[in-house]
Order: sequence, then structure tokens, then C-alpha cells
Amino acid sequence: MKAVKIADNVYWVGAIDWNLKDFHGYTTKHGTTYNAYLITGKTPVLIDTVKSGFYDEMLERVKSVIDPKEIKIVISNHAEMDHSGALRQVIADIKPQKVLASQMGVKNLKLQLGADLPVEAVANASTLDLGDDKLTFVESRMLHWPDSMVTLLNGKNILFCNDIFGMHYASSLRFDDEMPESDWFYEAKKYYANIVLPYSKIVLAFLEQVKKAGIAPSIICPDHGPIWRTNPGRIVELFTQFATQKNKKKVVVVYDTMWHSTDKMAAQITDGLASMGIEVKQMPLQHYHRSDVVTELLDSAGLVIGSPILNQEVYPSVAEFITYLRGLKKEGLIGGVFGSYGWSEGSFTKLEEGAKSLGLNLVAPALKSNFVPDEAKLKECFDFGVKIANAVLEKLK
Ligand code: FEO
Repeated sequence: MKAVKIADNVYWVGAIDWNLKDFHGYTTKHGTTYNAYLITGKTPVLIDTVKSGFYDEMLERVKSVIDPKEIKIVISNHAEMDHSGALRQVIADIKPQKVLASQMGVKNLKLQLGADLPVEAVANASTLDLGDDKLTFVESRMLHWPDSMVTLLNGKNILFCNDIFGMHYASSLRFDDEMPESDWFYEAKKYYANIVLPYSKIVLAFLEQVKKAGIAPSIICPDHGPIWRTNPGRIVELFTQFATQKNKKKVVVVYDTMWHSTDKMAAQITDGLASMGIEVKQMPLQHYHRSDVVTELLDSAGLVIGSPILNQEVYPSVAEFITYLRGLKKEGLIGGVFGSYGWSEGSFTKLEEGAKSLGLNLVAPALKSNFVPDEAKLKECFDFGVKIANAVLEKLK
């Protein structure tokens, strides 16, 4: 396995994880890459490592360029285990002169890998002279962990930005100009929706700060997915667009069902919404993973949540979806809740409370069907969809 040259003295030495299908709770249909980078020259530097288990692959790629023991500096831009998992092994084998991280990075790395880990803090905006180029370290707190930082190789204007501008997308190809946008767009959106969304205000503030500092990298090297060497502006533009959360005339109808009563209601609500010109994604949780529902929600103005009542509770898959979405803090959604019940109508207050905990602006009380919806109830469902559509269209005026 060989390193891939990015520029003179700069190489990709990461690993490809074709088999990863779940990344802490979200489905990664296309696997992922753990991108690590090697800077050769007067002072060889390794930027980030890989997930534990992929160390040998990384080392082999490094060896295709230099003897790993020549590496003098190791930089950990982020303390999450998909990048720091092999750090102990790197230190033990390579014995670099210095291991550097942000102040929070030092704290978190020691908490994960042991208090004796020989890692030093670099100050925000400080530089490190490599002899033939310079590195600048910029903290990017909460993008997406408190320890996150980015590193700029000044002379070559290459930004190593860790998780920012990444996506989970395994490929034998490394660069943006080798992969058509249609191949990776969904994965970029999914990554943003499931990882970065809660920090959208911080994304916009960080991009503004970078712009003010006059930093416009020629190449952007994230720790997952494509390296942006031809059109780095495209991924910045997309992340900016995702962060502004500009919503389309689009509504997601997410639900689960026991005996298809809630399913029948969902179909009518979808019809009602669509009759008003709204794009609708009807996503039963038996068939759509929560991380795909959230991906569709990223540019949606509305959310309708349906649940049967089971033992006086919201159906478990729906409750799980609400918990997941609450953490992601999608803002400004209009919508409603609905579902069928047998003998516990009052339990719908729990579904309404769950929806409100998401900040969902409910246009009406819960729409309930006692057991199987009859023709009149189905008409009510259609009208419920129309009502939600009108509220969405009014908001987007
Ligand atoms: Fe790719 Fe936050 O780890």
C-alpha cells in the first residue's frame, strides 16, 4: 500500500475502511476513510493517525515515502478515536520528538490514552517552523469536539482540517476531481446532518473568522473522504449552505406502525402535503434508518411524526428517533404529530411533548385514530397534511 502525493513533500498516508457500516449510530453505506497526512522535507511531520486496527496500513503507506523513524513531529488535530486510536502505537514505534495537540486535545488525549501520554499543547494561532515551511495551529472548538483544531501548512497553503469538510465515503480515489459530485453529495449532506448540524452557528462563525484572517486554502485535506485539490471552494460552499439551514418547501413524514393504521394515516397526510406542492419524504422507521431521516430533514421546513401507542407509551423506534434528533438541534421546523391507539388516547401528550422538545411548532393538536382509521378519519388526515402545508408555505413566503 502506497502513499498518495498531494503536493511536493505532502502525502496522504491514511487508511480505507470499506467495511464500516455504522459510525457511532449512523449508517455509513459507503464505508469511510481515516485520512492521515505526511509532510516530508526538513522536519517530517505526521498529521493525525488512524483508527486502531488500521495502524499497519498507515505505516506501510508512510514507509513507501520515508523511514517512519524520520518523523519528528506528530500532530493530533482531534482526539476522537478514529484519528487518535493509533497514536499510542505511533509514539511507541516512531518515537517522535514532539506530539502536539490543542490544550483541550492534550486533556482529552490523556483521558483516553493515559495520563503519561507525552503530548504537548500548542497555543491557538501559534506557528511551528519546520525549516522549509511553517505550520499554523488554529483552534476550531466544537467543530465538532472541544479539542478540535486545524493546521495550516503556510507556504503551500494546505489546510488540514480534521473532521470539518469531511464525509464518510470510502474510495480508491483520493481527490475531488476524480469523483463526480453525484457520487458523494448525499454522503456530504448526511455527514453534516448527523455530525455537524448542532454546531451550525459555530461553523458560520469559524468560516467568517477564517475569511477575515485572509485564509483561502489552495488544498483542503479533511480526515474523511475526498481531498479538495481542484475545487476546495465547493465543499466550503456546501458546508456554508448546510449551516445556514435554508429550508425548502419540503416536509418529512416519519413514523412507525404496528398494524398499519398509523401507516394509512401517514399516506393520507403525505397526499395532503403533496397536493399543496410540497415535496414530501414519507419515511417509515421500519425501512429508513434514523440517520437517513435526519439527512432528508436537513433542508426540510417541516416534520410530521407518527406513532402508535404501545403500553401507554410512544412506540420505541419513534421515541428513539426523537431522542436522536433532539441532540442534533434542527431549527425552525413546523409540523404535527399523529397516530393510532386502542385504549390510551391520553398517551399522545407524550408524543406532543416529545415533538415540542425538538422545538417543533405544532400547527394542531395530535391527530388520533381509535384503532383503524375509517374514511372520515382518512379525510381528516389529508386535511391535516394540507394544514401543515399551508403553515410551511406561509413561513417560507
Ligand atoms: Fe472523525 Fe470526530 O472523528
